[in-house]
Amino acid sequence: MNAELIGKKAIVTGGASGIGRATVTALIDQGAAVAVLDRDEAGARSAAEEGRRKGGDAVAYTIDLADTKLIPTIVERVIQQFGRIDILVNAAGVAGRFQTLVEQEESDWDFIHTVNLKALMLMMKYVARHMIDRGGGGRIVNISSSSAFRARQSPIAYASSKAAVVQLTRSAAAELAKYDINVNAVAPGITATGMTRVLGDTEALQRIASSGPLENLFHRVSMPEDVAAAIVFLCLPGSRQITGQTIHTSAGAVV
Ligand SMILES: NC(=O)c1ccc[n+]([C@@H]2O[C@H](COP(=O)([O-])OP(=O)(O)OC[C@H]3O[C@@H](n4cnc5c(N)ncnc54)[C@H](O)[C@@H]3O)[C@@H](O)[C@H]2O)c1
Repeated sequence: MNAELIGKKAIVTGGASGIGRATVTALIDQGAAVAVLDRDEAGARSAAEEGRRKGGDAVAYTIDLADTKLIPTIVERVIQQFGRIDILVNAAGVAGRFQTLVEQEESDWDFIHTVNLKALMLMMKYVARHMIDRGGGGRIVNISSSSAFRARQSPIAYASSKAAVVQLTRSAAAELAKYDINVNAVAPGITATGMTRVLGDTEALQRIASSGPLENLFHRVSMPEDVAAAIVFLCLPGSRQITGQTIHTSAGAVV
């Protein structure tokens, strides 16, 4: 395979685990240098070390994105390190406790929307400013969820935050197209990661993907690499005409 992202500099939030981590690996395979941002210090460090072992350039940064005032500084630190940013993947996210509307606690609602939506918006804001200042061009990929397209079987705060990511992606795509910046989203279905570990092991997730409200057309749980493949596609030269879109990697759970 030809590496198509040689010389490109990327940020992956949530890069310590699951979909973000698989994206770090896939971007490195394509030749990009990657800044791994995560609140999990050991996980971020090991993801970056793994990238360097493969011969890539990867640096770990520990940040709790819920502390949103830290975001401009961390973006600046990555620019200092790499000289520029070409790609932003916003994969950090939290599911929160399963709460219905009538149970919803305000503090949980605020926390989930801060991490899944506000921090994602601020990462886009500061990275897009940098991309514009250095003459334009760039790719932004946000991780939504099939929960954004379903009215049942999802915590409502999570579903709401992920639906907002879809529209934020569309609005940002419309705003940033004149700077040649593509903004897209990926909406995974049930994927075997740290987030879904509470539901059981991969076998248990496979059963969930095979029947009931979360079942998909292939009756197949996704692996982080399945989602990372779509994310990386949206960073490659061949996807330059795609913007404002949400690609579903849910094996047809949402059609
Ligand atoms: N796993 C699924 O079934 C599934 C389905 C749809 C969407 N998603 C989305 O995919 C994305 C990746 O999640 P995953 O499934 O790989 O889960 P994961 O738990 O394996 O990875 C999420 C990563 O985000 C990091 N993170 C969480 N909160 C953070 C914060 N405040 N600051 C910094 N880092 C933080 C975690 O430390 C972790 O490394 C999330 O946005 C999630 O909502 C997952």
